[in-house]
Amino acid sequence: MKYNINTILTGSFFLLVFAGLAVAHYQNQDQDTDSKQDAETESITQPLELPTIMRMLMIDMHTINEGIFTQNFDLIEQGAANINDHPPLSDESRSLVQNTLGERMSQFGAYDKVVHGTADSLRGAAQNQDMNRVMKHYNMIQQGCVSCHAAFQEEIRYERLRRQARNRD
Ligand code: HEC
Repeated sequence: MKYNINTILTGSFFLLVFAGLAVAHYQNQDQDTDSKQDAETESITQPLELPTIMRMLMIDMHTINEGIFTQNFDLIEQGAANINDHPPLSDESRSLVQNTLGERMSQFGAYDKVVHGTADSLRGAAQNQDMNRVMKHYNMIQQGCVSCHAAFQEEIRYERLRRQARNRD
């Protein structure tokens, strides 16, 4: 079968158009993933509610734990750094804690300080690859988490749920 010049020209034209559309489509997809990534990194510095930050702290502790069991000091260092670099508390959560605790806020702050200060020491111990000091500071952090929970977790959780229920009515 013989192709005439018109068929070839029209065929090539459509091929070019399709190729162009395909390229444009993939370029857009790339842009989409870029902006999604931007949004994800950005959201990490956005203020978050207290339980969300707490869950992030728990993941940091898991990371440190894994580093301890596999003797991966980089992982321990990373987890310790994350404890101190967590996103800020939202205004709503902050006022919830302040209104619920009143004068006891200073005790809450003291527990928070112990955890943060010890996370710095843990980071240093990991940099020095000193497993004994890693364990010492890890245990102190865990004790800090648990002490604050023993004092305030239930009370604040209860108050948060009470406010949520009230806002629904
Ligand atoms: C200064 C006090 C304080 C310290 C320190 C603290 N927490 Fe908490 N944590 C709280 C309070 C208060 C709640 C309850 C929050 C709520 O329910 O609104 C809580 C809740 C939690 C929860 C439950 C979250 C949920 O989804 O209900 C986890 C998990 C948690 N904390 C992990 C940790 C870990 C891990 C550490 C230490 C690295 C830590 N916390 C240190 C005060 C503290």
